[in-house]
Amino acid sequence: MKLSQADFKQRRDLLAQHIGSNSIAIIATRAEMYRNRDADYKYRADSSFYYLTGFAEPEAVAVIETFEEGEEYSYSLFCRERNREMEIWNGYRAGIDGAIEIYDADEAYAIDLLDEEIIDKLLNKHRLYYRIAQNAEFDARVSQWMQKADAHRGGTAPAEVVQLDRIVDEMRLKKSAQEIELMQIASDISAEAHTRAMQTVKAEMMEYALEAELNYIFGQNGCMPAYNSIVGGGENACILHYVENNKPLKDGDLVLIDAACEYEFYASDITRTFPVNGKFSPEQKALYNVVLAAQLAAIDATHIGNHYKYPHEVAVKILTQGLVDLGLLHGNVDELVENEAFRQFYMHGTGHWLGMDVHDVGAYKNGEDWRAYEAGMVVTVEPGLYVAPDDETVDAKWRGIGIRIEDDIVVTENGPLVLTKNVVKTIEEIENLMASRQSA
Ligand code: GLY
Ligand code: MN
Ligand code: MN
Repeated sequence: MKLSQADFKQRRDLLAQHIGSNSIAIIATRAEMYRNRDADYKYRADSSFYYLTGFAEPEAVAVIETFEEGEEYSYSLFCRERNREMEIWNGYRAGIDGAIEIYDADEAYAIDLLDEEIIDKLLNKHRLYYRIAQNAEFDARVSQWMQKADAHRGGTAPAEVVQLDRIVDEMRLKKSAQEIELMQIASDISAEAHTRAMQTVKAEMMEYALEAELNYIFGQNGCMPAYNSIVGGGENACILHYVENNKPLKDGDLVLIDAACEYEFYASDITRTFPVNGKFSPEQKALYNVVLAAQLAAIDATHIGNHYKYPHEVAVKILTQGLVDLGLLHGNVDELVENEAFRQFYMHGTGHWLGMDVHDVGAYKNGEDWRAYEAGMVVTVEPGLYVAPDDETVDAKWRGIGIRIEDDIVVTENGPLVLTKNVVKTIEEIENLMASRQSA
């Protein structure tokens, strides 16, 4: 499944309505990124630029211009011209004709003409919308255009400059049925990758070798990881952003994998924690079931009308109760929640928006208040417990255990929809899956 040009056009139609009459919106894609001598990072277009254009080539700028009330808006795409020699070295370019014929632009120009052509477009517009303060170089360029437009005898520069991201981020926050479909595909592929990891893990395997099993499934589906994969055995699971993935996995340890792919520019985000040898120890089991109970309750709390932080509040209450029951915390649960005593073992939030970016765009607050969930929002639910290996406040048997369980949830009229349900997560399901592997 892919989005069609009609889908991208619909988004531009909506943006044109948002910016009002006689205004202009300018949005650039990301620059290519140098890695080291003669080698670039694999190019990935900017999410908001792609969201509005479907255009994945580097060196491109989209311009939406509105005119008097009732007049059609105009969409211009500035992009690389076709160039036989460059295309032999670096691949196909749509070029000016392709921008119009394939990507539906009303006007298309060589990117080298941007500084010249944009001045006319800016003249006498009420408002300029662009992504203020995202890129210092681009900010400087816009300032120069504004100066030039102001000095021009044919008119004046826009009187107002407005942050474009406020509009586009809000559009991106609530996903369409097609976007959910793409996220479902990303989630299904990622779930298959986690399942393969559970089926292939062995003691003494290197963490990176297990990461390779995930990458195999991503690659077989034409996908890239949506973010740097975390594969942390034993106490490495307690390092929240552990991405070295270069230690051997030990018999008797858990391994925490936070990894997922993106499909057609839409991300998944999954964490599973499972025993390297296929069997949870009693301590691992006890802590895992606390995290799982917190996660299931937090998913249930991800409902239209509940505020963004509510699932977190539900999760920390259950985690705290569990920590008291197991003797890792002492005292009254409500007071421990109030004092955030759980932060010794749970130091991150319970979820974030998910979409084209793994930490997706969109405001979390309306003024002072957490915003309420609305249909079409997608959020992760990812509680965890991490007992530092040197935490002398707890019995030695708990130390170095790190657990997180993360799923991706669509807020719908019918309650939470779990996109990532295709990878097992109860102890029984995990042990059964891993037992069938060992006997195979
Ligand atoms: N994988 C990034 C996160 O869970 O936030
Ligand atoms: Mn996440
Ligand atoms: Mn994650």
